Amino acid sequence: MNNLNTLKIKISSKQIKAKVEQLGRELSDEYKQENPIFIGVLNGSFIFLSDLIRALSIECEISFLELKSYDGKESRGSVDIIKDLNINLKNRHIVIVEDIIETGNTLKYLLNKMEKIPTKSIKIVTLLVKDTYRPFEFTIDHIGFEISQEFVVGYGLDYNERFRHLDSIYVLE
Ligand code: IMP
Ligand code: MG
Repeated sequence: MNNLNTLKIKISSKQIKAKVEQLGRELSDEYKQENPIFIGVLNGSFIFLSDLIRALSIECEISFLELKSYDGKESRGSVDIIKDLNINLKNRHIVIVEDIIETGNTLKYLLNKMEKIPTKSIKIVTLLVKDTYRPFEFTIDHIGFEISQEFVVGYGLDYNERFRHLDSIYVLE
């Protein structure tokens, strides 16, 4: 796994851009005058979140938390908090922004953790979802692309911290 030749293009930067613009329009419609808080789940979602908020025509706030459930290509099942939220979510509309949902463990953990907070609403936006473990115990409100069981990198997504900087999404072979 030492060079970029083992990457096969899956979703081009052009396709991503069109999808992000569409999601931005949908969210702007849903949250007119609501000033929602977009919560990015680090590290994978940082590029998607930064493009997504620039596709909005409404005001919003952003915050991040960092969770870790992965080692290499395998989900470990358990989730660790690396960086916790430091923003008051009480009485606010929350939009959780994920890069990719596979087993759903990460989001289940996060939603459980937020359950006690009296928010106004919580919705989930993910750029990618794998079809392997569906259906989940939670609803995903906005999905960019559905993919099959394959490991993808680029546009924020990594393999052991590599390939996040690529502007398209690739299958790692
Ligand atoms: P889940 O908890 O199994 O739903 O996995 C969620 C997290 O695992 C995502 O937020 C990613 O950080 C990581 N992940 C899952 N599949 C992939 C992949 O194909 N490429 C890169 N990261 C992935
Ligand atoms: Mg993630």
